[in-house]
Amino acid sequence: MAGPKRYYLTTPIYYVNDAPHIGHAYTTLACDALARFKRLDGFDVKFLTGTDEHGQKVEKSAQAAGIDPQAFTDKVSQNFRDLAAFMGFTNDDFIRTTEARHKAACQEIWRRLRERGEIYLGSYSGWYAVRDEAYYAESELVDGPDGSKVAPSGAPVEWVEEPSYFFRLSAWQDKLLTFYEENPDFILPKTRRNEVMSFVKGGLQDLSVSRTSFKWGIPVPGDDDHIMYVWLDALTNYTTAVGFPETEEGEFPTYWPADLHMVGKDILRFHAVYWPAFLMGAGLEPPMRVFAHGWWTNEGQKISKSLGNVIDPIDLVNRYGLDQVRYFLLREVPFGNDGDFSHTAMVHRMNGDLANDFGNLAQRVLSMIAKNCGGNVPAHGARTDDDRALLGAAYDLHRALGELLDRQAFHEALETLWVVIRQANAYVDRQAPWKLRKEDPDRMATVLYVLAETIRVLALLAQPFVPGAAGKLLDQLAVSENHRDFSFLGAEHELSPGTALPKPQGVFPRFVEAEEGA
Ligand code: MSP
Repeated sequence: MAGPKRYYLTTPIYYVNDAPHIGHAYTTLACDALARFKRLDGFDVKFLTGTDEHGQKVEKSAQAAGIDPQAFTDKVSQNFRDLAAFMGFTNDDFIRTTEARHKAACQEIWRRLRERGEIYLGSYSGWYAVRDEAYYAESELVDGPDGSKVAPSGAPVEWVEEPSYFFRLSAWQDKLLTFYEENPDFILPKTRRNEVMSFVKGGLQDLSVSRTSFKWGIPVPGDDDHIMYVWLDALTNYTTAVGFPETEEGEFPTYWPADLHMVGKDILRFHAVYWPAFLMGAGLEPPMRVFAHGWWTNEGQKISKSLGNVIDPIDLVNRYGLDQVRYFLLREVPFGNDGDFSHTAMVHRMNGDLANDFGNLAQRVLSMIAKNCGGNVPAHGARTDDDRALLGAAYDLHRALGELLDRQAFHEALETLWVVIRQANAYVDRQAPWKLRKEDPDRMATVLYVLAETIRVLALLAQPFVPGAAGKLLDQLAVSENHRDFSFLGAEHELSPGTALPKPQGVFPRFVEAEEGA
């Protein structure tokens, strides 16, 4: 019998030279919400993140810190592990490109590319931007602020002239275009797909895939003078972590091809052009999807170290709370677009959507049950159309959210969840259970039951996004730990009348501005 359906998703591996910032937390958070959703939905999930530790950029940072690159990367890689732990991310593995398993995978990919005639020895002369770890054609350069030529990203460039191995990327143009045509959802969002396709249609040049002018990297098999180009090394991590070079009974055949590489828009070209070409060149399958998300600005300004406005995710969480930050980042902007972080917008979401809409709904209902139903799940009578409409909307959410998350539409998934939260609030106002208490206590019990059951479904589905608060709501509804996956969403698992409920407590605190001068 076939096992559970598997889902393999990855974050980019982060350059260790930088301190973890909101960009890193954002990419990993989106993957974390998706990984949690898929696990609850019965998938065998593998969620990978890690650090990109080779190359000139990291070597230079180590030199600047006055320590050798291995000691440097050992130290700074830990910051990314610590961030993942602090943020409660549920990654199943954390890969470092300095690990032995990764060296073996890179060298094997290289050997396969070489054997298949995809790599040849030549010499490179051209521009290189260490900050981007990318080669640029003269025609791509733009004028920098001081009049010198810089990369389109603004990164300084240097002239490089050295012997180099090349990957025959030029030969992959048509095959890549055919691949994009046949797999219309390979690159999302669609606007990014169009950009990539016009880039490829513009013609591809062979890509320099080795360097000889520094040492910090993986040696080319059979030619130790060359270090593999850091992007070939880095991209290969996605296969390393699932056991490549493959064995028949290992993880590789189970998890490859990856379902999703989540990346920022700045690194889409590497993932959507070079990576599928490397893989197909080595006789391996390309991944199923690359999704490019947008960038955050801070109160309307581009985030940069020189402006001193880098957002530390740890500070954010300490100030607003983990669930709140998770919710804001996934709800505030259509996933794929750029977004602006502002205190006002954050507080608006935190107090409006979370505290007022969801928090009050739960608090009102649970305290009415505590006061009027002896703190037990109420017994319920015949259901009206209004009751059925609300419950039906809640039960329909599972499928709707699943479809939205399969397109990485996190913002729409949350909006869809909130439509039902608002519907439930409107139902409370319409049914006015506080009035029914005297007039028709049986009907009051039914109304509160319908609401409690709706909250159960909402809380189950909210777990991937606001795991802390959703867990507390489920505790307050006495839903046992092993009844919290999505197989328990249906009406057949509805709350049992008579179950004793713990004392209700608020789960979404409001942000209260400190008094001026306080
Ligand atoms: N090491 C490469 C990736 C190799 S993957 C095989 C790399 N590392 S990085 O540390 O620079 O990556 C940072 C990630 O954070 C990228 O996905 C990037 O898009 C993202 N962000 C960096 N700044 C960002 C914002 N201001 N906003 C959102 N994401 C941003 O690239």
